[in-house]
This record gives sequence, C-alpha cells and structure tokens, in this order.
Amino acid sequence: MCGIVAYLGDKQAEDILIEGLKRLEYRGYDSSGVAISDGKKLQVVRSSGRISVLEKLLDDSSISGTIGIAHTRWATHGAATTRNAHPHMDHTGKIAIVHNGIVENYSTLKKWLINNGSTFSSETDSEVIANLISHFFYDQSQYDGCEVDMSLDKRLIKAVRMTLRELDGTFGVTVLCEDVPGMLIAARRGSPLALGIGDGEYIVASDAAAIVKHTTQAIYLGDNEMAVITRDGYQTSTIEDEPVASKIEQIEYSLEEIELAGFEHFMAKEIFEQPETLAACLSGRLDVKNGQINLGGIADLSRKLVRAHKVNITACGTAWHSGLVGEYIFEELCQLPTDVDYASEFRYRNPIIEEGTVHIVISQSGETIDTLAALTGARQRGALSLGIVNSVGSTIARNTDCGIYLHVGPEIGVASTKAFTGQLAVLTMMALYIARRRHMSQSRLEAYINAMAKIPEQIRTILGQSDFIKETAQQYCDRENWLFLGRGYQFPVALEGALKLKEISYIHAEGLPAAEMKHGPIALITPEMPVVFVAPRCGQYEKVVGNMEEVKARGGKIIAVATEGDDEIRKYADHVFTVPDTLDELQPMLTVVPLQLLAYHAAVIRGHDVDKPRNLAKSVTVE
Ligand code: G6P
Repeated sequence: MCGIVAYLGDKQAEDILIEGLKRLEYRGYDSSGVAISDGKKLQVVRSSGRISVLEKLLDDSSISGTIGIAHTRWATHGAATTRNAHPHMDHTGKIAIVHNGIVENYSTLKKWLINNGSTFSSETDSEVIANLISHFFYDQSQYDGCEVDMSLDKRLIKAVRMTLRELDGTFGVTVLCEDVPGMLIAARRGSPLALGIGDGEYIVASDAAAIVKHTTQAIYLGDNEMAVITRDGYQTSTIEDEPVASKIEQIEYSLEEIELAGFEHFMAKEIFEQPETLAACLSGRLDVKNGQINLGGIADLSRKLVRAHKVNITACGTAWHSGLVGEYIFEELCQLPTDVDYASEFRYRNPIIEEGTVHIVISQSGETIDTLAALTGARQRGALSLGIVNSVGSTIARNTDCGIYLHVGPEIGVASTKAFTGQLAVLTMMALYIARRRHMSQSRLEAYINAMAKIPEQIRTILGQSDFIKETAQQYCDRENWLFLGRGYQFPVALEGALKLKEISYIHAEGLPAAEMKHGPIALITPEMPVVFVAPRCGQYEKVVGNMEEVKARGGKIIAVATEGDDEIRKYADHVFTVPDTLDELQPMLTVVPLQLLAYHAAVIRGHDVDKPRNLAKSVTVE
C-alpha cells in the first residue's frame, strides 16, 4: 500500500529518494516524506499530497546528506495529513523510521510508552516503533549490566531487535538514528522489502521498481529478517539475531518496463502492451508444434494436481474475477468441482477442506494481505497450494507449494489490466494441462492450443478500435449509473468491466449475470442508463440477445461487445465493439479489452488521475 525507499552511498540521498518515491507513488499517494542525515543531524521534510509537493519543499530547503529514508503513504491509522506522514521520529527527534504494515498492538504499546515518558505527535500506529526503539536505545537500564558499555551501533541494532519482537502485526521498516549516522537498518515481517546492492551504494525499497535504475542485484528479505547496512557492507540476520545467508537475486525486469514509453498513463500502456505481455505469458508454455502445455512451476506436483478432487480459488478484486472465469474453465475442461471465494471471506470462515483439495491463490502483487491469509489458512488445513502471481519473489509466491508466474511484466496502473488477461491465460493453460492428463483427447487439446496461440494478435485488432470506443465513452461518460451484463464466461467479464469503470471513472456501475437483470435491476432501466452487454457468439448467445430486447423495450441505451461479423446484434445495440471469434473458454481474454478501453477513456475524459485513482492502492497490505 505504502512505499519505502532508503539510501546509503556516496551520492546525495535526496535525489535518489525522490526518484524512488515517484516510482513507488502508485503504491500510495496521500502524503510523503524523507529523513536525511548529514552525518551530524537528521533533517526531516514531510508533506501531505503528492510527491511533487514534497519535491517542491525539498527544492526550497538546503538538505544534504548521503544516507536517508523516505516513504509514500496510503493512510490507514490517521488522516492523510503532514503530521501523520512518515518518517516518524521518536520524542527526542533523533530516531526516524518509515513503516509499511500495521502495528496491531500499537495502543497498548503507546500507553506503556507514554507511562514511561514518551510523547507522541501523530495519530499513526507507526510512531510507536520510533519511540520504542528510542526507549531501548537511550534507556540503558533495559540492558543487562555487562552491556552498558556496548558501542552505539551495537546498541542501536539491539534496540531495533527488541522493538520488533514487541510488535504484533506486519512491518517493512527502515531506521535511521542521528547518533549512529552511518547505519541504516531494514527489517520485514509480512510487508516486502528488498536490499539493492550497487557499486558502493545500497538502496532498500518495498518494490524493486525503486531499485532497478541503480542496480539489478537485490536481496529480498524474508519474514522476520533484518539487514544492517553501513559503509563497510551489509549483514543479514533474523530479528532474533541468527545469521541468514541471503541470496543475491537478479531483478527480473528492466527500467524500460516501468517507464511510460510515450503513453500518457501506465494504464494505457498496460492495455496496449497486452499483445506482447500475453505472448510472453504463453511463451515456452504453449507448445503449438508438439501440441502440449509445459508448466515447469507445477511439474513436480503434477500427479497430485491431476488426482485432485476439488479446486478452491481465493483472490481479491480483479484477481477474484479471473478466479470466477477459472471456476467455469476448471469445471468445463477438467470436470473438477471448483469454488471461488473472496480471500477476505474465506480467511474468516471455517472452510471445509477435504483431502485432495488444491487451493489456488491469484494475486498480481503477491502481497495482498487477505489473499496471503487465505493461503495460510488453506495450507494449515492440508490443501496443496498453488500461486498464480505476477510479482516474482513476492510473499505469496514464496509461500505456495508450487506456482505459475504471469510474466506480464510489472503492472503500475492501479486498475489491473494486463495482469487480468495474464491470469486468464495461466488458468486456462493450467486447466488444459490437468485435463489432458485426466481425460481430454489430444485433438481437443490441440484445438485449444491453436486458438490460444492466436489470442495476442486478436487482442491487437481489438485495440485498433480505441478511437471508436473513446467516442462512445465521450457520449455516455456523464451518466452516473451503468449496468454490465453477461452470461457464462462473460459474467465475470461484466463484473470486471463494471469494476474498471468504478475504479477510475468514479461512475457507479454494477456487473450482473444477464438473466438476473429481471430480478430487480431491470427497474433501473431508463433512456439515461447505459447497459453494456458482453455478448460474443458463444454458448448462451441467444439468451443474451433476449435480455437485450428486454432492455431495448424499456428505452435503455445498449453498448454491446460482440463477435466480428455479428450483424444481428446491431438491431438491438446502439454501439457495438467487436472481438474476433475464438473458443468459448478463451473469449474473456478478448471481451475484456474493449471494456478496459471504455473505462480508461471515460476516466480521462472526466479528468481523473487514471493511474492514481481516489482512495485506491495498487497493493493492499492491510485488512
Ligand atoms: C487492489 C487493486 C486491484 C487488485 C486487488 C487485488 O484493490 O487496486 O486492482 O485487483 O487489489 O490485488 P492483487 O495484487 O492481489 O491481484
């Protein structure tokens, strides 16, 4: 949700921190701040609003120093004010921290700290971390007699360890102390942090996007691990002080992938790059020549997967919609009973997990807290877990028994687009992989493989309608209520189309199975109400056309997503966006694209900040 960047090296920290924050701004954008040490004093600048406001304040200040920490915030505890912005200082003003996550026992800790002389100046949970470190660092009575003489740097490390042990909840945290000016400490539990290792410099960040400009070598800290970084090098250990032999990994993506590349918004870039991202997702997996699907990430557990009796899918937001498509696909192709749950509901139910259950979690970021908790719960109940994740090395990816990465590249736009089509492709390939090993004939498999191989180029032809879709958006974007309807595989697409419109256009939109319209929503239909039908030629086409007639009869305005060459539908629809024909199970990868464009254009016309929509965050690491 929030973003962390920290720097230690020989360059001025300010520029590197601001540049890093801008790369992470998609993770939170209601306030931000930096703390920089010049070797003598800690200098702190914070501001509510976007990073550009902070940048301006820094331009007007004379801060200097080559070690610093910075944060961009998405408010949880306390309003989005300067006072609540990170870094937070202890009451002496000598210890600064930035924190992602939630300190669940913060009110108990706060009371205790106040009773022991600390004072607080914000409404955040994070401020207790700074004051607790301060308490352990400056109050020598906390140490065993023999440790009173400990050097300041050792004392700081110890004080941080003692503090972290007291915290319930999650944290990605970095710490600076005025009295130990050459040391940066970073630690995590449940909230990602990576340590980028450059040439004589280190960049700690909650997301590799802030590191990749400086180095492609990074250590992803594990849960309950911390890194102590000085000008002499770094050391990793557990919070309990056991050494950790951390592996230096190559950051998977390049700087170009996180740049706008001429597009006005990341969302537009990500919609338009879907032919390439989907091709990358299929590459090496969809083997057209040999008529087979190769999925290395699940090969070791393939026997268990093939013998499974049941599939559970949990996810949130857009990923939950792809899970719904997955349900239809698994039942159709694999004849496997499949349930889909919101992760936030699943984690607090008492789900019955029978033997032979495969639990699939879908997450673009791999960090969504509810999805992670659902995964943990399912594993504890004995399910075999499988992750469909985009972010390589993310917490969910590390905590599943096996998994398949999307390989669609980093997604920066808050409204998910290319991850959705990637998730659908992976779910379909997985279903085909299992189905062929259960009962599917080779010829049927090959029909799917051949059709899937065409999808990337078919998406390209849909993107060619962008200007036409923009005209339609122009015509209707002043309407505040929309309906999105579809049946079968197109029902989750209708939900996704409605979600996209809500997220970035702030238009109220509802997605429904088309047949459900008669059970209430039909009362809403007037000539003012745009109704989007996702109606390609597939299984229940005739029935959907029947629903269109019902809307037409009541004067509703119809926008249809239909199969190329379907002239019949033009009798009912006021506007038609076309998609090429393909097999029913594969249609959602195509039909969602015009709806992504519709939402994008409507939001731009309404003047919204498409990549940073109001109140939303890209990666939701709080409940
Ligand atoms: C947030 C994002 C959505 C995303 C959802 C799940 O709400 O704004 O776009 O679909 O989280 O995220 P995940 O990373 O788990 O797919």
